[in-house]
Amino acid sequence: MIYHSFISSCVLILQLLALMVQPGIGAKVPAVIVFGDSSVDAGNNDYIPTIGRSNFDPYGKDFEGGKATGRFCNGRLSTDFICEAFGIKSAIPAYLDPAYSIKDFATGVTFASAGTGLDNATADVIHVIPFWKELEYFKEYKQKLIKYMGYSKATRRLREAVYILSIGTNDFLENYYTVPGGRSSQFTVDEYQKFLIGITENFVWDIYKLGARKIALTSLTAFGCLPLERATNIMQKHACREDYNQVARDFNTKLIALIDKLGKEAKGVQIVYSNVYDSLADAIAKPNLYGFENVDAGCCGSGKFELGLLCHFAEIFLCKDADKYIFWDSIHYSERMNRIVADYAMMYTFNRFL
Ligand SMILES: *[C@@H]1O[C@H](CO)[C@@H](O)[C@H](O)[C@H]1NC(C)=O
Repeated sequence: MIYHSFISSCVLILQLLALMVQPGIGAKVPAVIVFGDSSVDAGNNDYIPTIGRSNFDPYGKDFEGGKATGRFCNGRLSTDFICEAFGIKSAIPAYLDPAYSIKDFATGVTFASAGTGLDNATADVIHVIPFWKELEYFKEYKQKLIKYMGYSKATRRLREAVYILSIGTNDFLENYYTVPGGRSSQFTVDEYQKFLIGITENFVWDIYKLGARKIALTSLTAFGCLPLERATNIMQKHACREDYNQVARDFNTKLIALIDKLGKEAKGVQIVYSNVYDSLADAIAKPNLYGFENVDAGCCGSGKFELGLLCHFAEIFLCKDADKYIFWDSIHYSERMNRIVADYAMMYTFNRFL
């Protein structure tokens, strides 16, 4: 009991601190620029031919206007909340969405694509935007921004913007452990992690050369605890797959080492590690503290297997209150969990950029 009230007080104090920090933020971070997978895709996949989509009910039911934007969530993503916390705007639009223009993208944009990975081969699995193409879009964006704002304002905007990379889970779950005769026959897990870290390193140098200076690399989450992985972990009575969580932790250790290295090598860069592994592990370990009642199944359908169209077909089995669930579908967080991830990231990571 004492322990519990101690934690509650801490949470309260942190929330008060967050409120105090918020007002002055807007000026320093003028834009949030996002790369990655479904954790941060706001609907780019709506505009490419792929099955990796979510622009239909019940996705977006708690989004503004109940709109299914293509976010793999009932509402907003963690990056939307982070952008809002910087005092910029409440949601980050998808680069390929024709409803938005460079005027909107100048304060925030996501190039992310659900189902993609660092490895080119991962994007091929369900035909989504490969990671290298996200960088090409960013180069195009830079040119548009220069045309829109002028060279000196645009380069200043790019220098002061915060860049977020959230990617990598699909390289393991959709690719390495799934495609027979693929990466797992070419690389050990350790080698594959190094391969992916090498791609991340090149990417950071690429955006750095294009003007980025405030960069956050997101950890892998505890992907052994995703409902889909638990559902298939029959041998261990649907517990989290510890072997997968270990893979995530090993990857994260390498990612932290890369961040330390780049922080020293890239002059004038502020590069930080955004730890989403711990926010998920903590929510699963102490759901009551966060007001969650369900930690091992998503809100849609049975919660164990459904995502994308299967959620749509199982709509009559939708849970009543997604806020009580860590997961929205069998892979993706609920909006409430995304908010917790964002609060945690603002508190421990993004405060460095203020
Ligand atoms: C991925 O594909 C792009 C485009 O073909 C290529 O330029 C890049 O070198 C590839 N990346 C890796 C790591 O093989």
